[in-house]
Amino acid sequence: MTTSASLFGPDYVRAIAPYQGGKPISEVAREFGLDEASIVKLASNENPLGLPASSRAAMQRALDDLARYPDSNGFDLKGAISKKFGVPTDWITLGNGSNDILELAARALVAPGQSVVYAEYSFAVYPLATQAVGARAIVVAAKDFGHDLDAMAAAIAPDTRLVFVANPNNPTGTFIAADRIRAFIRQVPSAVVLVLDEAYTEYLGDADRYDSIGWVKEHPNLIVSRSFSKAYGLAGLRIGMGIAQAGVTDLLNRLRQPFNVNSLAQAAAIAALGDEAFLQKSAQLNRDGYHQLTQAFEAMGIEYVASHGNFVLFRAGQDDGAGSRVNLALLKRGIIVRPVGNYGLPQWLRVSIGLPEENAAFLDALKAVLA
Ligand SMILES: Cc1ncc(COP(=O)(O)O)c(C=O)c1O
Repeated sequence: MTTSASLFGPDYVRAIAPYQGGKPISEVAREFGLDEASIVKLASNENPLGLPASSRAAMQRALDDLARYPDSNGFDLKGAISKKFGVPTDWITLGNGSNDILELAARALVAPGQSVVYAEYSFAVYPLATQAVGARAIVVAAKDFGHDLDAMAAAIAPDTRLVFVANPNNPTGTFIAADRIRAFIRQVPSAVVLVLDEAYTEYLGDADRYDSIGWVKEHPNLIVSRSFSKAYGLAGLRIGMGIAQAGVTDLLNRLRQPFNVNSLAQAAAIAALGDEAFLQKSAQLNRDGYHQLTQAFEAMGIEYVASHGNFVLFRAGQDDGAGSRVNLALLKRGIIVRPVGNYGLPQWLRVSIGLPEENAAFLDALKAVLA
């Protein structure tokens, strides 16, 4: 009940606006009287291929052990991560989604009243994690929908303890080239930790890839966070990881719930890490889908932001009601995309890149709605 909620807790908790996720298919089916099977969900940047067959088989094998608690230290999974990325196991934090890593970083590193720097139009969890610890947000105006790293470096205050940078960024899809981020890391004072949030890094083309985990070796104040929810196809299992030197990793692990990553997620992630073929297929499907969507946007005269992720931000109209209006009209046609008014982008919508037929269904509906 909202009335009693307002009586309890610190002001900074009551000020939090809850996270708004993509609408589940079942909810849209109920609300609009649609058949679930006819609904296309392109709202949460999930992998349209589903989970890898290798992960499914690994979970099948892990089922027999479900009456037992998971391995609290994720021994086998950390071993697989260590091998794949060339880092010691005491540099790895496993998270209940990479979301968990972002929150652990705020809780471990920032005290109430200190500040956290992040960009306008960046991931919605940064303000949530900041507010949850009673910290002050320093939100730096975006430049061309992406991070303005010069302004962010200048905005770091004496009481700043954490900086969040998403690369590629969500919800805009913008990308910062390796050299530029590298220079930024050197500008961040040594007492300030930078979280480089790379939830979408597996979608980068060869020319854009860079070795951020290698940078961790030089910078004790860098956390690289990665997700298994996107290209690895395991969003429903909730698993992600943070890579940082042992000092910061030790702090994150002190706050982590002992069993924050369940057994099925650990088994599935080990299989997915080794499934290079699935990752490549996911990235190729995404590139093809990106061309399908953006070529259609161009033909329709729809403005969009060039994206390096598995989604595209496009302009639904020129007035501040456009995002909600077009979103509602799409929902009535069984297409779920993501409104981004809560990000300060009320004229825009974000569509995740789906299978070719899902992208086509979205484009058909959009044409009908805008006609
Ligand atoms: C930039 C960014 N970081 C982190 C996450 C969190 O993903 P997960 O908790 O599923 O790993 C997301 C999810 O959409 C994201 O867009």
